[in-house]
Amino acid sequence: MYIKDLAKYEGQQITLKGWASNRRSSKGLEFVILRDGTGFCQCVVDAAKVTPEVFENAGKLKLESSFSLTGNVVKDERQLGGYEVQATDVKIYQIAEDYPIAKKEHGVDFLTDNRHLWLRSTRQWAIMKVRNRIIYSIHQFFQENEFVEMDAPIFTGNACEGTTNLFETNYFEETAYLSQSGQLYGEAMAMAMGRIYTFGPTFRAEKSKTRRHLTEFWMIEPEMAFFDIFDNMDLIENFLRRVVSDVLRDCKKELEIIGRDTAVLESITQPFPRLTYDEAVRIIKGEQDVNGKNAITSLENELAQVLAQIDATKIEIAEREEKIKVPGMKKGEIGFNQAKIDKLKQELADLEEQARNIPQWLNSARNFEYGNDFGGSDETVITRLFNVPIMVYNWPHAVKAFYLKRDPADDRFARGVDVLAPEGYGEIVGGGERETNEDLLRIKITEHELPMEAFEWYLDLRKYGSVPHSGFGLGLERLVTWICKLPHVRESIPFPRMMGRLLP
Ligand code: 4AD
Ligand code: MG
Repeated sequence: MYIKDLAKYEGQQITLKGWASNRRSSKGLEFVILRDGTGFCQCVVDAAKVTPEVFENAGKLKLESSFSLTGNVVKDERQLGGYEVQATDVKIYQIAEDYPIAKKEHGVDFLTDNRHLWLRSTRQWAIMKVRNRIIYSIHQFFQENEFVEMDAPIFTGNACEGTTNLFETNYFEETAYLSQSGQLYGEAMAMAMGRIYTFGPTFRAEKSKTRRHLTEFWMIEPEMAFFDIFDNMDLIENFLRRVVSDVLRDCKKELEIIGRDTAVLESITQPFPRLTYDEAVRIIKGEQDVNGKNAITSLENELAQVLAQIDATKIEIAEREEKIKVPGMKKGEIGFNQAKIDKLKQELADLEEQARNIPQWLNSARNFEYGNDFGGSDETVITRLFNVPIMVYNWPHAVKAFYLKRDPADDRFARGVDVLAPEGYGEIVGGGERETNEDLLRIKITEHELPMEAFEWYLDLRKYGSVPHSGFGLGLERLVTWICKLPHVRESIPFPRMMGRLLP
């Protein structure tokens, strides 16, 4: 019996098994929040209705103690799940030691050190449920569209996305790399099956400590024979729309817990703007507006607002701190003001972070050099102007991967496409049409200083029934982070691996 099914058992006696995520006592009553992984449920233990032994058991339930509870299911609209259980019996599995994660605000380093426990918190639970729905939806979409799931190897003998961020391992006295991308294998598999997708872990030894980077992340990489870049963009758009719509429909409660304002996600039904690299650069540099919004002036206005808010918040904190110092204030009122001060301080920290970030974004946008790849700041600047993901295509070939097809219309560009999530999130998908010209590929492999012998098998694909083909890679954690509007990618994966983080 699980909490998610309570509605079917209204008026009946049931038994739940789980953990105490909260408890409070009040005159002969114990209110325990039981969580069982499927949801959260308030259980009431009334001294007048149970044996003294059962009431005593309920009173022993410290945070995160494990127990089972039997009782009657009663409708109660005020409760999170809409039901309450009125207990008749409580059995203890284990009384927990003092739980390190309390209700109060903890620093993110402390929480990440305790990730094995943090996962139990309501918000983290909700994020993982959304992640799970996304994964399910991804498989549904591809399986319903004639894609075959095939797995690419993790140990590889060649680099796919450049040599600078490879993890090396000792493979029986040879060097093997942990895969950065399954794409090259995906291309081979697509030539065998038509449409395939891989879904596996990928590794990047990136020495960047940003809110977007993990060293181990999960990537979904479809590859399609006979698709050009425009077919590819149509597929990406349908795919992302499907996933976001499923989450909106099936994860209402979770998004509410996370505090995600879903209005922006609802715009997923609108077409995704498709911008060439040239257009995107003009927008970043403020030379072209988006729906009347200019990247540079809107950032300048925002900075002015943030600075004004910082001043106002500092004043309010100071005033409240003075107020609670005055003798004679009631305990409750002091508590109320202190809570307000804590909240304002958190807001102030967020504002101060924005005040540090915005000038950096402005700086990088103003000084963006045509021909460069986009950095995190550039992606932030452009995507803050949009409510839906945007697709930027036709990139200068020099800054993109070796395997992208040269644009037949203009040799300076390659047919790559990056999908940038709105609201400042930035790249979630990288993909494109693949080069089919073997000679050009050999030139590119040499230019990128990659060892030709390791790519001979890949070049075979251009010799035996070569066809136009395309594909893309979606970073699962980046998608979860945007959909849930998380401040950092570390909360989007059960156990994040980042530079300087290998435990727990
Ligand atoms: O843009 P990338 O490097 O593209 C490829 O690997 C292609 N071979 C994919 C393909 O065409 N089959 O990576 C694809 C996506 C990025 O858009 C991003 O979402 C995610 O993978 N990603 C990362 N996510 C978290 N941490 C990192 N360090 C990431 N690096 C890439
Ligand atoms: Mg990329």
